Amino acid sequence: MRIEPSGEVCGAEVFGVDLSGPLSAQTVAKVRAAWLAHRVLAFPDQYLDDDALERFTLAMGGFGEDPYFAPIEGRAHIAAILREADETTPLFAENWHSDWSFLPEPPAGTCLAAVEIPPVGGETLFADQVAAFAALPDDRKERLRSLTAIHSARLAYAPEGSYGSRDKGRSMAIRPDESARATQRHPLVRHHPETGEEALFSTLGYIVGIEGMDDAEALALLRDLSEWQVRDEFVHRRRWAPGMVVLWDNRSVLHRATGGYEGYRRELHRTTIAAPRQAA
Ligand code: SIN
Repeated sequence: MRIEPSGEVCGAEVFGVDLSGPLSAQTVAKVRAAWLAHRVLAFPDQYLDDDALERFTLAMGGFGEDPYFAPIEGRAHIAAILREADETTPLFAENWHSDWSFLPEPPAGTCLAAVEIPPVGGETLFADQVAAFAALPDDRKERLRSLTAIHSARLAYAPEGSYGSRDKGRSMAIRPDESARATQRHPLVRHHPETGEEALFSTLGYIVGIEGMDDAEALALLRDLSEWQVRDEFVHRRRWAPGMVVLWDNRSVLHRATGGYEGYRRELHRTTIAAPRQAA
């Protein structure tokens, strides 16, 4: 197995491994170690079918929960990230986020396998939250360590949220629900459960407040922090190619989708990798 770092703050490409077949314990351990070290791994030329994507997800930690998505037909744990060539809805996942950070046990990672990749645009961007935290001045780190963030899916997945009843003509199978109003508390700075590194966890959008702070003060802090979290020096750009598989660590990076492929169809199959304790 050969691992080529991106040369940016995080991210690497992995060559010399075939994810479509059975994976030995040694290969899984190497991929997991590379994933923790580089935070985002891209595997070119894999062309995984859904069985292989499920096997790989199981090997990496097991299936995590996927609220608000209906799975693709015949699979319980695969969702399609899909945009038709003529679709005009706002882009899915265009805001920075850590997947499902509003859950009591947010997932460890996410895996995306290319199904149909447009010839231009549609890059996925990643922002390294270990690097973003490490670069803060000590007094700011100390202040942020003391804060507890309030997370919720309501702005996106409640009936009046951005993917709610006003969102017409979307090809993705998104299922808004009243349960999106629930809130969940997580430390704003978390120790990565596997590496011990400190990282800013999630961002404005899924974070809707700070415990013990009024809304105006919390929003000002979160706005300011969210600009810092995604400064250019913390960002890795992943350009997609047909057959590629990408795996990222939601505990140490934020991510977002980009457009620029109007007139082309884009489809990826996505699985969620459970945090070690919740793995099924
Ligand atoms: C996602 O957040 O799962 C989608 C990312 C993308 O479409 O590039």
